[in-house]
Amino acid sequence: MARSMNDIVDEIKSRINIVDVVGRYVSLKKAGNNYKGRCPFHNEKTPSFIVSEQKQIYKCFGCDEGGDVIRFVMKVENIDFMDSLDILGKEINIDVKKELSNDFDKSSIKKKRKYYDMNLYIAKFYFNNLKNDNQARNYLEDRGLSNKIINRFGIGFASDSWEESKKFLKDKNFLESEIYENGLITKTKKGNFIDKFRNRIIFPIFNIKNEIIGFGGRVIDNKSIPKYLNSPETIVFNKRYNLYALNFVRKYSNKDYIIVVEGYMDVVSLNQYGITNVVASLGTALTIEQVKLLKRYYKKIVLCYDMDDAGVKATNRAIELLNTEKLNVKVLTLEDCKDPDEYIRKKGISKFNNRLQNAVTDIEFFIEQIRKKHNLNNSKEKTKYTQEVCSLLKTIDSEVKKEYYVKLLSKETDIAYDVISGEVFGGKKFKKDFNKKTYSKKNFKKKMLKNENLKIKFNKNDILEKNLILTFIEAKNFELKTHILKLEKDYMILDMTKEFLNSLDSVENFNLFLDKYQSSLQEFKELNYNDSLDFFNSLDILKKEIVTRKIKKLSLRQKELEKNKDGNENLEKQLIEIANEIMSLKKSL
Ligand code: GTP
Ligand code: MN
Repeated sequence: MARSMNDIVDEIKSRINIVDVVGRYVSLKKAGNNYKGRCPFHNEKTPSFIVSEQKQIYKCFGCDEGGDVIRFVMKVENIDFMDSLDILGKEINIDVKKELSNDFDKSSIKKKRKYYDMNLYIAKFYFNNLKNDNQARNYLEDRGLSNKIINRFGIGFASDSWEESKKFLKDKNFLESEIYENGLITKTKKGNFIDKFRNRIIFPIFNIKNEIIGFGGRVIDNKSIPKYLNSPETIVFNKRYNLYALNFVRKYSNKDYIIVVEGYMDVVSLNQYGITNVVASLGTALTIEQVKLLKRYYKKIVLCYDMDDAGVKATNRAIELLNTEKLNVKVLTLEDCKDPDEYIRKKGISKFNNRLQNAVTDIEFFIEQIRKKHNLNNSKEKTKYTQEVCSLLKTIDSEVKKEYYVKLLSKETDIAYDVISGEVFGGKKFKKDFNKKTYSKKNFKKKMLKNENLKIKFNKNDILEKNLILTFIEAKNFELKTHILKLEKDYMILDMTKEFLNSLDSVENFNLFLDKYQSSLQEFKELNYNDSLDFFNSLDILKKEIVTRKIKKLSLRQKELEKNKDGNENLEKQLIEIANEIMSLKKSL
């Protein structure tokens, strides 16, 4: 005999004595009408744990734990509710799990079937209603829907009546409580049940097995609110797990990709134009469960959401979800139209197909968002745009794709491919001249610049430049000069360094240089007594410093030109060049 959960709980509680059960774990002493013992749930010396035989409950006045026998077993054995029922059930020869699962399965499957039936009955009722209602038929006709499409989607009409659906279903022997639980009637404040859908166009919502699980209802004027009313969540309607019209896509389309739109009307309207591979999420943002459902049938998804801010946000979120499931995503954008329904009705099927052909990838869609934020005629903005896109491209996990977009960006911005590639691939592709490990370089620089003795007497530029000269001298290897000669004199700050570079053309000149600066270099050396002096580290650090100086200089120039660039094409060009150069310098850092 199958029993419900409530029946089983009641039977366990009536047939098992809590005192017997607790008594197996706690030594209990009679105290008046109750039993008393030391609480098993916290440490105590004086008993404050009470069991009431009369009420069949326990309670600890020390730690506040309390409840019935089922809870006691849960707590003391550290198991969940079902396992506690199971253990206790065995004591009175009830196989709880078996009985419950039977009971649960049987009753819920039966109930669900009943609700699908109810939905089918009422859908047919609404469908027939539509045929008899001129206003509703005209509304759909105005929106361009033919009978064929109305029939395909089973679109109906709930008339402006309070109890028509309720009465219809009750005549079919459904209970008011069932109709209510299935979301087709609502309770008024006074406690009366009235039809949920009144004076609305009805879109039945099917699951993939063609069972009707719920309804969406649209007002037929353009002012009543809410515009759409949807069935509540019920035992047959889980919005997160279903997509509007997926069943029809499976039936009418053999395409290998699917279009996801926001609204019922978008789906229906596209079908009107022969586009049958369209679904809508059910008035909410796309969920991961819906994505997984799509993934069962399609690996290529085209998002075609409304073009307002909300639609763009929804698109971004949807892309994220689709990417977590590794689906191939494209985005179809519609210029100057609110949604796909409006677009196809205004511009026609061939233009829509054209947009479809030109649907952009998710990355292109993101790039477009960034592009919209910047005025690319302004060189600074263009640099910013490029940097932002580079950051985006860095996040792509396929090297091939990265490469593709790097090329695209280079073409678009006129910035050298190598520069953008360096930025995006993070220097992985372009090795530095000197292969010293960066960590040692960093430490070296830090050590040098933090040297308290030096800091008192010298500024940063002094330290960097003098350090190089000194390490060159200390290395006692004149061959190293070829490396130093590549440094650009113009970007040296100290006269000493400029002279140093000039002196390297001959040993004589170098000796003259030494004579002149020996004492000041000696002082520097003494203050900077340091084992780790390393010629190549010093050179590398100074090279970087030069790049930083160059960027500074270019930025100043940029600011100056920016002031009076308006309308001056030549200046504009210069500015773009400067921006490019700054980009490429930053990359080399
Ligand atoms: P039309 O105005 O008939 O063209 O509908 P639409 O599909 O273009 O509507 P819209 O873009 O405003 O909304 C998209 C989807 O969001 C709809 O299909 C509904 O599922 C849902 N929706 C819109 N308005 C409401 C509302 O007021 N309440 C609820 N619950 N859902 C709504
Ligand atoms: Mn619309």
